[in-house]
Amino acid sequence: MTDKYAVIGNPITHSKSPQIHKMFAEQTGQDISYEAILAPKDGFAETIERLRKEGYKGCSVTVPFKFEAFNLVRALQDAQPMQGVCSQLAANAGAANTLTFHQDFVNGDNTDGIGLVRDIKQNLLYPLKGKHILLMGAGGAASGVLQPLLHEHPKKLTIANRTLEKADKLHQLYAHLPQTELSTCTYSDLNGSFDIIINATSVGLTDIEIPLPPSIFAPDGLAYDMMYGRETPFMKFACAHGAQIADGLGMLVEQASEAFFIWCGVRPRTAPVITALLKS
Ligand code: ATR
Repeated sequence: MTDKYAVIGNPITHSKSPQIHKMFAEQTGQDISYEAILAPKDGFAETIERLRKEGYKGCSVTVPFKFEAFNLVRALQDAQPMQGVCSQLAANAGAANTLTFHQDFVNGDNTDGIGLVRDIKQNLLYPLKGKHILLMGAGGAASGVLQPLLHEHPKKLTIANRTLEKADKLHQLYAHLPQTELSTCTYSDLNGSFDIIINATSVGLTDIEIPLPPSIFAPDGLAYDMMYGRETPFMKFACAHGAQIADGLGMLVEQASEAFFIWCGVRPRTAPVITALLKS
């Protein structure tokens, strides 16, 4: 019988996830269906409940429900008997992007950080170990990728955010790690240059440009925008100042492949899927 999966978000029509999972299924011979489902902004929990009743095996969770997905699994975890399990990555991020529905419990995972790190290291061939990294943003997207980035042992990681207190909150979670010099600042206080600059803010959805000193881009450095589908003002600025640029398409495919692995136990090849998406 075909195993049913879906991606839940609002809005959702733009999602490339159904296309990606269809390609993964064809490539690995897995008998799954995968559709995009629009949940009302105040109806995430009800949508999940419905999918479980209808026999879905799991779902991807996208904007704006990743925090809610984590909280939902947390609430199930606190229930008697326990009906939810959060992975360490989801717990550290406080957000979940992959839910797996078992008979008696729901698993909550976060594959975003793994996806980002794989895209930077394996697809774009930028090592992270010993490097200077700038992470822009301190919201859900940034907190989801911070731990996997630190796991790569960069020499220095700076979290820059418009609201310094939010960057400081993230900093407090990881300040004890010995391998990486972790610091925070606002954009106007940025100085020095960085090998890899990751834009994890939500400004890529708009034409707003965060004012950045051009000197932050190291020669041949990488400017990575976690958004995909358009060249953002950040990417244009970085390109004009000598950086290599990348958008988040590779991360999208890599995080999906990790979710596919969690659900089906097989790891699809991502390169042909990225190529196919770029062509389309
Ligand atoms: P997401 O889940 O996409 O990360 P979020 O949790 O609302 O969404 O976080 C949005 C991020 O984009 C935050 O880091 C936010 O900065 P603040 O913490 O100061 O709000 C950042 N952001 C949004 N609009 C911005 C703008 N106009 N200039 C700079 N940063 C902005």
